[in-house]
Parts: sequence; C-alpha cells; structure tokens
Amino acid sequence: MKIKTLLTLALTLAFAGTAAFAAEDDTPLAKEMKTMNKSLRALKKQVADPAKKDDSLALIATIKKSLDASTKLDPAKTKEVPAAEKAAYLDKYKAQLADLAKTYDELEAAIKADKADDVKKALDKLSEEKEKGHKDFAPDEK
Ligand code: HEM
Repeated sequence: MKIKTLLTLALTLAFAGTAAFAAEDDTPLAKEMKTMNKSLRALKKQVADPAKKDDSLALIATIKKSLDASTKLDPAKTKEVPAAEKAAYLDKYKAQLADLAKTYDELEAAIKADKADDVKKALDKLSEEKEKGHKDFAPDEK
C-alpha cells in the first residue's frame, strides 16, 4: 500500500515536471513564430470574406509585429554555427525574413485591392518561404 502511494506520487511529480518543461521549452523566437502562425491561420480562414477585410488587414499588422521581433532574435541553431560563419548565417536569416515581410506586403496589397488571385499567389509564396526558412534555420524536427 505504502509503495503504491509512493509510486503514484512519483509518477504524478514526473508528469507535472514534464508538462511544466514543455510549456517553458519554447525559445522567444519560437513564441513569436507561433504567434505569427496563429494569426496566419486565422487570416487564411477568413481572407475570402469581404466583410472581414479590415479584420484581415489588422491580422497582417499583428503578424508584422511578430516578424519584426523575430528579426531581432537569433535562431537557436546559431550556437552550433562556427564563429567565423556566424555573421553570414545571421545575415542570411535576416534576408529571408525580409523576403517574408515583402510577401506579407504583397498579401496586404492584394487584400486591399480585392485581388483574389494575387492573395492566393502571396499565400503560396509564404508557404514556400516558411518551408525554406525552416529547412535552413529551424531544428530538424520542424
Ligand atoms: C509564414 C511563415 C512562417 C510561419 C507561419 C512560421 C511558423 C513557425 C512556428 C509555428 C514555429 C515554432 C515551431 C515549434 O516550436 O513548435 C517556428 C519556428 C522557427 N521558425 Fe518559423 N515560420 C515561418 C517562417 C520562417 C522563416 C522564413 C524563417 C527563417 C528565415 C523561420 C525560422 C524559424 C526558426 C529558426 C524556428 C525555430 C525557433 C528557434 O530557433 O528558436 N520561420 N516557425
């Protein structure tokens, strides 16, 4: 009986520890990226709805804030890069985020002009840039 109680306690503590670790595990960059992802998902769902045009533009403004913050942060993988290559690595990271920001500008312009084809083009481009950015800079499981 006593052993069972102790085992239950040990398991409870182990799980509580794991949950707390997972919540605090995100880097500041991962948090900004997750915020951006959430707004982008919301945007994709409603972008075709003319009644939500202002709201969609507001979502882009929120996304741009996360993007600005992301540009000021370094990918976690930077610490694995040899010192001599670090500056070039971070320049490349920032350049790819600047390209992403340009695509968000294109998306914004397309929404403003009610150009559904251009909205789709910009969304497709965002997906490609995300994939490339993660391949180049995010940890392997991403
Ligand atoms: C629409 C475009 C993008 C979206 C929606 C997006 C979304 C995300 C999400 C949700 C995560 C967190 C994953 C997790 O921890 O579970 C993440 C991580 C990450 N993303 Fe993005 N991402 C985008 C574009 C980019 C681009 C273009 C780059 C690089 C130039 C990039 C670099 C990273 C890095 C480095 C991480 C890992 C965090 C770290 O190293 O601390 N992402 N992204």
